[in-house]
Amino acid sequence: MLNIPDFASFRNVATPFYYYDIDLFNKTVAEVAELSKKYNVHVHYSVKANSDSRLNDIISAAGLGTDCVSGDEIEFAVSCGFDPKDIFFAGVGKTDKEIVQALQVGIGAFVVESLEEIVIIGDLAKKLGRRVSMSLRINPNIDAHTHHHITTGLYEDKFGISDRSFDEAASLVKSYDNIDFFGLQFHIGSQILDVEEVVKLECERVNDIVARFERDGMIVKNIDLGGGLGIDYDDPDNNPVPDFETWFRTIRKYLVARPEQGVHVEPGRSLVGQAGSLISRVLYVKKGENRRFLMVDAGMNDLIRPALYGAYHKIENLSAHYDDNDSREMRVYDVVGPVCESADTFGKERTLAKSHRGDLIAIRSAGAYGQVMASHYNMRPFAPSVYSDRLAEAPRRKDYFAK
Ligand SMILES: Cc1ncc(COP(=O)(O)O)c(C=O)c1O
Repeated sequence: MLNIPDFASFRNVATPFYYYDIDLFNKTVAEVAELSKKYNVHVHYSVKANSDSRLNDIISAAGLGTDCVSGDEIEFAVSCGFDPKDIFFAGVGKTDKEIVQALQVGIGAFVVESLEEIVIIGDLAKKLGRRVSMSLRINPNIDAHTHHHITTGLYEDKFGISDRSFDEAASLVKSYDNIDFFGLQFHIGSQILDVEEVVKLECERVNDIVARFERDGMIVKNIDLGGGLGIDYDDPDNNPVPDFETWFRTIRKYLVARPEQGVHVEPGRSLVGQAGSLISRVLYVKKGENRRFLMVDAGMNDLIRPALYGAYHKIENLSAHYDDNDSREMRVYDVVGPVCESADTFGKERTLAKSHRGDLIAIRSAGAYGQVMASHYNMRPFAPSVYSDRLAEAPRRKDYFAK
């Protein structure tokens, strides 16, 4: 069950909201920072997973870098205190404006995804009289054993440069006297759980590709293996901190890297996923013809992952636990939101404590790709961030029946 130190205060916060467990988050970030040193693997947090400014301040204070995919993410990362030199700028569709912005900020490296991009970035940098540091994103054609919407390293995906174009990419980079070749980047997908198997495969493929570029006279100074470490959506209480150590150890075991070669990763989900939950309140318990619906006040506009990927999130009735000591009978519900779409369903046939209007419901493991993907659909407002150690500052709910 979600740990809430002060339920009396928590229950009066206006719903829906994203609740961030700051103790757990600090612990997760501290662990990554320590393991990063132990294994000498540079960690660049993928801002796209969660751009809450307090969480990003904590990550930057731990000395990690970032992986950004838009001009606004770069500006945001700088405002959170990340060193521009530790910012990588990736993404398949960088605009000219964003490229110029990144050059002016002085980011660590562009991660380019196509031959056209090498030319555009090289030319824009030349026009501005700048040198530019560039990594090539490689499409290694590896299956990450994950949902097809979140695999990115197969030929059928839009990402990266495939082996057919390696020679051309290398000669293009060499043809620019203002491009510094930074290295190679790989990201094969997200929510990887078969870490040892998949990362071993990834490293073996990376070793071959690095060797091929070096045979071609391209010194690969940095190898970036992307993000992708998965989290336990089924059992967040037993696995609150993902297994970063197995990830880093597997990389160091199978990746052939010279001591002077930098090894980088770009985790997103694994840093922020378990620290966040979407909290909502039961509006109605509706008995349909065949099913019982728990209508809550959060919708797919707040958390789209179940509708978008059929993603599973654990759902809990906090009131039944904290107020009634788990003494209520269990019932089966479809947990749904108020948005006018049938896809606005957080979970089907979930066994939960018998629920009533006003009960607080937690949708767990929602810290990654949750709040950042929220929309105003149905003109619904954005759910704010609420931090476990700052409950008193959170907006209070209004009781419309109070005299
Ligand atoms: C290039 C790149 N790096 C890192 C990430 C972060 O992945 P994850 O959140 O699975 O760690 C992504 C996610 O889409 C990505 O595309």
